Amino acid sequence: MSDGHTGNPSTAARAAALRGKLEALPAGADSGASGPIRLVRAPGRVNLIGEHTDYNQGLVLPAAIDREVWIAFWPWDRSEVELTSVEFGETRSFSLAGLSPETRGARSWIDYVAATAWAMRDAGLGVRGFRGVMDSTVPIGSGLSSSAAIEMASSCALAVPGAPRPDAGAMAAIAQRGENRYVGVNCGIMDQFASAAGRAGHALLIDCRINQFKTALMPAGLSLVVCETGSSRRLEASAYNTRRSECELGVKLIAEREPGVRSLRDVNDAMLERNRDRLPEVVARRCEHVVREDGRVMDTVAALRDGDLDALGRLFAASHASLRDLYEVSSAELDAMVDIAVAVPGVVASRMTGAGFGGCTVNLVEHGAEEALRDAVLAQYRNQTGLEPRVYIVAAVDGAGEVKLDA
Ligand code: GLA
Repeated sequence: MSDGHTGNPSTAARAAALRGKLEALPAGADSGASGPIRLVRAPGRVNLIGEHTDYNQGLVLPAAIDREVWIAFWPWDRSEVELTSVEFGETRSFSLAGLSPETRGARSWIDYVAATAWAMRDAGLGVRGFRGVMDSTVPIGSGLSSSAAIEMASSCALAVPGAPRPDAGAMAAIAQRGENRYVGVNCGIMDQFASAAGRAGHALLIDCRINQFKTALMPAGLSLVVCETGSSRRLEASAYNTRRSECELGVKLIAEREPGVRSLRDVNDAMLERNRDRLPEVVARRCEHVVREDGRVMDTVAALRDGDLDALGRLFAASHASLRDLYEVSSAELDAMVDIAVAVPGVVASRMTGAGFGGCTVNLVEHGAEEALRDAVLAQYRNQTGLEPRVYIVAAVDGAGEVKLDA
């Protein structure tokens, strides 16, 4: 068995286990499933820097990580998807015929699969039904994009074999539209894009205005470590939407005086200062975060290229402070996690990652210092917050695709 993407020794065992679960499903009177089993995977992501910039047509720098959703499946000719989630311990199905946001049922994990099918169809792509089993190592609700990983894995399982597949940016835009319109979550494009386009050993510099990306090599001496705060992201959805509206209001007010401004990507520092008096104070702070964060993304790409560890530390710290003070999406738990991390020798850079209000921090750590970070977090974070932290050493991996199975 070969996977051709990570060389991770557990890959073969995992594929075999999932395949076994699929083969063990009750056959059903007329399952219609036939042909060889296929296997697709899609990674979660961690964002290095460029937070709350994607929906402002800005720059982001995520990496796809080796926390992944896998689907083993038999394609079938019925216009239906039947999927068993190992994680949720249940089987759900939906018909591909007549899918629409208006007919979506009670909320469930299967919505992300149905949303992707709906959006692919709506974009004029063919989709094919399947019977499958899904498993995931992306922790749910931790801000590592478990839903985008389900969407991108589903997009691979649903695709008609041999049909031309849109490039990663276009496929991500389709899945994002499914999540926006069908699931009703107003996310930007970063998570789906990272899951679709990931490259082993690299971060992705994505320009969300043109949906194009370049790869940025991760420095050889650094590990990527994710620390999960274990704190609830309950406020996230409404606060996220409020932030989006505040940015849109900023654009509208600035554009009244600055022709040609269509998004915060078109606004620079000088323009923001010229127009600050027109903006409600809170809107001005939101805009300031976004405008400066785009610059920090480009500076981080340069610092990664040059191996400038001091610059990386400063840029992550400035991003975190801006998200805490100007954008107001950090939390006491995220701040505590960053404070613990930066005091550990060998931790180069640390900041909150993702939407905020809980979830995770992202850390760049010199090889050999990973365990010291884990020990410090386990020793101090629980005492400070009463919450159970988790520490993951992750690797940047390739984006969504098919895993080749030996016959
Ligand atoms: C969530 C959204 C992304 C992005 C981040 C914040 O992860 O899904 O589109 O906006 O928040 O950077």
